[in-house]
Amino acid sequence: MGKRALITGIAGQDGTYLAEHLLEQGYEVVGLMRGQQNPKAPLVRALLPDVQLVQGDLLDQGSLIAALESVQPDEVYNLGAVSFVPLSWQQPALTTETTGLGPLRMLEAIRIVCGIGEGSRSPRPGVSFYQASTSEMFGLVNGSPQNEQTPFHPRSPYGVAKAYAHYITQNYRESYGLFAVSGILFNHESPRRGIEFVTRKVTMNVARIALGMEQKLRLGNLDAQRDWGFAGDYVKAMHMMLQADAPKDYVIGTGVTHSVRDLVRVAFERVGLDWEKYVEVDPQFFRPAEVDTLRADPARAQEVLGWRAETTFEELIGSMVDADLARLSGSCSREYLEIA
Ligand code: GDD
Repeated sequence: MGKRALITGIAGQDGTYLAEHLLEQGYEVVGLMRGQQNPKAPLVRALLPDVQLVQGDLLDQGSLIAALESVQPDEVYNLGAVSFVPLSWQQPALTTETTGLGPLRMLEAIRIVCGIGEGSRSPRPGVSFYQASTSEMFGLVNGSPQNEQTPFHPRSPYGVAKAYAHYITQNYRESYGLFAVSGILFNHESPRRGIEFVTRKVTMNVARIALGMEQKLRLGNLDAQRDWGFAGDYVKAMHMMLQADAPKDYVIGTGVTHSVRDLVRVAFERVGLDWEKYVEVDPQFFRPAEVDTLRADPARAQEVLGWRAETTFEELIGSMVDADLARLSGSCSREYLEIA
């Protein structure tokens, strides 16, 4: 019998790549979808026809219990969140409810449905739980590169909410013996990335400029540095973490850092243009508190899981520029369907 996985955040970049990866591994995949007539549902059905959808919302405890009861998954991947960092200053309470307390509600749902921690009742076989933690928890970094022991200093309501979710996942593992793990993923991108994030904003606008549809690209802090990898590589690590002998948290990244300035240079080079003629700094994109630099030390994931990033920064950004050129010229394949 193949395994069954439940994915929250199925309509996001990572949800779609993870679903495809698990289907390839022979899983039955169910995605949690919130809202009435969610506008993303048709896109998900078109891109992932073999994925079933179930109603539920990370804000609604009862709906998570009902989803677990009906799906009976072996593995739950919690990828649903408010994930755009600037939005977390505009809607900090919603971010905390979804990104911070959402995972708690899912852990509670697992505990209740499996009958864990309820005295004499014999628990049902456990459900493994994956929490999407983030390098944003390191924030104002306390040492570089960052590994699983590096202290957290989050710099946004989003980072604070993710730190809570990280600790509550660890606590449920220690309190109830749940196979509950967090992947501390550094920035991961793809042609399916939402255009609000800097990589995709850059690649989409580079493509528009190359095609004469745009004159300028306005960005915020060009000095920010990130460890950018390919989302398709990173979802494999999520799956590996739940197959490991023991539940542990893992840092997932490339170990290589680039600045936003490097990003625009590489993206413009892909279309043979000089970035300095097109990029303008616009303070409206500065953040109230910035995460200046991040770099992963993924040694534990390499040693224990045998995972490593397979895609270089140049390959990643090049593929995103190519995909946006194809999209704009109307020759995009199903793989590049706008999803995020
Ligand atoms: N979005 C955006 N737009 N970012 C800009 C811009 C701009 O115009 N100009 C400069 N930046 C800088 C930001 O200030 C930030 O330092 C960096 O580019 C990356 O921004 P994002 O792509 O928005 O990603 P993020 O690092 O804030 O967060 C992403 O990665 C995290 C993992 O570390 C998100 O995917 C988070 O959900 C994820 O947890």
